[in-house]
Amino acid sequence: MQAIRIETGKAYDVLVENGGLFTLGERTLAACEGASRVLLVADDTVDALYGKTAETSLTSAGLAVSRFVFPHGEASKTVSTYLSLISRLAAERFTRSDILVALGGGVTGDLTGFAAATYLRGIRFVQVPTTVLAAVDSSVGGKTAVDLPEGKNLLGAFHQPSLVLLDPNTFDTLPKDTFADGIAEAIKTGIIGDPVLFSLLESGQAAPIAEVVARSIALKGRIVAEDEREGGLRQLLNLGHTVAHAVELLSGMTVTHGHAVAIGISVIAHASEKAGLCDASLPARIDRALQNNGLPTTCPYAAEALLDAMLSDKKRSGDALTLIIPRKIGVCERVKLPLGQLVPFLQKGLEG
Ligand SMILES: NC(=O)c1ccc[n+]([C@@H]2O[C@H](COP(=O)([O-])OP(=O)(O)OC[C@H]3O[C@@H](n4cnc5c(N)ncnc54)[C@H](O)[C@@H]3O)[C@@H](O)[C@H]2O)c1
Ligand SMILES: [Zn+2]
Repeated sequence: MQAIRIETGKAYDVLVENGGLFTLGERTLAACEGASRVLLVADDTVDALYGKTAETSLTSAGLAVSRFVFPHGEASKTVSTYLSLISRLAAERFTRSDILVALGGGVTGDLTGFAAATYLRGIRFVQVPTTVLAAVDSSVGGKTAVDLPEGKNLLGAFHQPSLVLLDPNTFDTLPKDTFADGIAEAIKTGIIGDPVLFSLLESGQAAPIAEVVARSIALKGRIVAEDEREGGLRQLLNLGHTVAHAVELLSGMTVTHGHAVAIGISVIAHASEKAGLCDASLPARIDRALQNNGLPTTCPYAAEALLDAMLSDKKRSGDALTLIIPRKIGVCERVKLPLGQLVPFLQKGLEG
């Protein structure tokens, strides 16, 4: 078992252990002193696969368990699902000492986290991420949210979990593309600050997934601890994301987030190399790592279209855009680019 301490305002542990799901009850009790009741939240797919195991472990530890199951997919990350979750808590008279457990991917984690952040002005919750994306990304940092018709993640709060328990065995049932989506974020994390993590994913050999997620979490944890409310350093985690959001938008959300991130990282790496900002070997290494993990590296859209989509992104400030530029594997920097230079910069990136 690996334990990674996340030193946010309220510190907590991420435990990574094969078979960890069977220890959920005892670990939850140890992390949430005085808890007696649990609402176990999962989507229908994850509930069918792991709901029973999770419930049995929680019950065996002496916790009283109710279950809340909702249809899988981003379409459920809404105010309406959130309100039915809150109504269940109220109807069952959950108190401040009771807890929520999120069993599933990022949708379940974000939805449950937001309910925990707001019910009775905040109760404790435990995350059990079952996608690689939720493991390496959404389980660290305390961002919780639901979507509004006007846009993704517009209604949310920062609320740290009391514990994250990660059982890499649960990744065995992930569809190939969903697994790869999370690996894109792990490759991104390696490029930002962990050359060993990057090498694990570069070779094309099946990487030891427990080590990959543990290293990704440790690095994200360090960045988030230094910049809990996203003032500066945390922006490094946006490597490839400005282009990725544009690709997602232009594709009508048919390109998944991780696949879009892969395209974004590749475009930025090629553009940076052409602009003389990074090692000449960097784009080829990055493309190899992405392709070896079943991820795309070619962008189907032109630079002008990307820029239009980028300008509708909320992270823009004034007449410049801040991009994260990879200098070499393990070192990235924030660079402010005037809008006028963006199209030629991206064009170079698209030439590959
Ligand atoms: N809070 C944050 O910091 C943060 C960071 C990144 C992403 N997110 C959010 O995360 C969400 C995306 O996360 P996601 O990709 O995990 O989505 P998800 O939760 O919808 O999971 C993807 C699909 O995989 C299925 N699934 C989950 N675990 C499984 C398993 N072990 N075996 C088989 N199927 C399984 C789910 O039922 C779902 O259909 C987005 O809403 C995004 O906004 C949040
Ligand atoms: Zn991302």
